[in-house]
Amino acid sequence: MAGMGKLRTSFRCSECGVSAVQWSGRCPSCNAWSTLEEERHLTSAPPIPSGPLTPAVPISEVDVTGWATRSTGVPELDRVLGGGVVPGSVTLVGGEPGIGKSTLLTHVAGQMARAGATVLYVSAEESDIQVRARAERLGALVPGVWLAPATVLSDIVGHLDDLAPDVVVVDSIQTVHDPELGSAPGSVVQVRESAHRLVQEAKARGIAMILVGHVTKDGGLAGPRVLEHVVDTVLAFEGDRHHALRLLRAAKHRFGSTNELGLFEMGDRGLSSVPDPSGLFLADRRGGLAGSVIFPALEGHRTLLVELQALVASSTLALPRRSAQGLDSGRKAMLLAVLEKRAHQAVNTCDVFVLAVGGVKVVEPGADLALALALVSSLSDKAVPDDLVACAEIGLGGELRQAGQTARRLAEAHRLGFRRAILPESAPEPPAGMVALRASTISEAIGHAFAGRPALRTLPA
Ligand code: TYD
Ligand code: MG
Repeated sequence: MAGMGKLRTSFRCSECGVSAVQWSGRCPSCNAWSTLEEERHLTSAPPIPSGPLTPAVPISEVDVTGWATRSTGVPELDRVLGGGVVPGSVTLVGGEPGIGKSTLLTHVAGQMARAGATVLYVSAEESDIQVRARAERLGALVPGVWLAPATVLSDIVGHLDDLAPDVVVVDSIQTVHDPELGSAPGSVVQVRESAHRLVQEAKARGIAMILVGHVTKDGGLAGPRVLEHVVDTVLAFEGDRHHALRLLRAAKHRFGSTNELGLFEMGDRGLSSVPDPSGLFLADRRGGLAGSVIFPALEGHRTLLVELQALVASSTLALPRRSAQGLDSGRKAMLLAVLEKRAHQAVNTCDVFVLAVGGVKVVEPGADLALALALVSSLSDKAVPDDLVACAEIGLGGELRQAGQTARRLAEAHRLGFRRAILPESAPEPPAGMVALRASTISEAIGHAFAGRPALRTLPA
């Protein structure tokens, strides 16, 4: 019948989200086993009415009231969001289990309630006693924070009717489900449809909604990436669970820039802001250590001075061991090849371990030179000067190129007491009081870094 449409069945992979017309035991796209799930939809949409439902308006007359951001009361989160959350919008906070998402949002709930908002915290993963205990520890036991242990979508919508909250936290979206959809909670269909419905509710009611989403080890949102298209803002909460540092960045943001970085430290009393992080990783640095070079990394608008370390040791294995922590292993492999071929450093037969100290990830190519010098420093057992930073990208020919925003990086390095920088010819002048050691190739840079440096220990020939 025209206008009603027929039900059609298809299948969708819960790992990669690809759609298939036929069921099979293995996903045709990502090859995962038993991940195809049934989906039902209408084959024909209702007829399109003639004439627009909402008239077009001159762009300057679009109503902007209600778009004002509302501070979350957590300064580092406000920084990433460009002021705060927007009523009528949905923010997804993704991160690995245990990284601190519930902790962050408990802080937010407490702070926003203190500022007068009615906050509904929908928690389905933990018991209400657990949530209360956490809130108590974090000082978020505030009137105005309401707790609802709900998992069924209609139940959550019921709470929105009852309480008419200004802010809603759903922890986590993977536990929310609609029994009418049939498939299991946490499946692609459930998560996507629930998120879709919650987005509609948030928009219709002018609620600032925050969804928690678990992320798998490889960084994808567990199950569906499709969630990212449904929400207005996607924040990634990252860090190494064994370190206290947590980084928060926007992967998508409809209301502002995605360039800001929020930094927190996890402690006994929850997350605290790190307003001046530049020198955070240098606190335990030991001077005069071979295999260590400082790189002024850029994270959004912030400069972090990060110590890159390398250990190069002759190997007894046919296939030498290679490992990289917090650094790109593909980039490291390339640098080893460039060092062997262009700078005649015998690294091929060595075991090579590299790491970025402090649990940060440094993946920008501008770190090439610092990492290459750390490798050579370990191989030759000569330390680079303690007040030296290195900043350049290395090409396959061994040539150096300028890293983006070098001037900003150098200004921060100078502020923290570094007085020498190895830089490509094209890089800007460093601030007064800092010496530029210019090099156009990796070999020249090695010359600068180790000029007159004694070997710390003589390697056996
Ligand atoms: P949690 O917020 O539960 O993580 P998620 O919701 O992302 O799964 O935090 C998990 C870890 O944080 C947990 O291992 C304990 C630690 N933690 C602290 O160190 N201090 C605190 O004050 C709190 C609340 C948690
Ligand atoms: Mg949690």
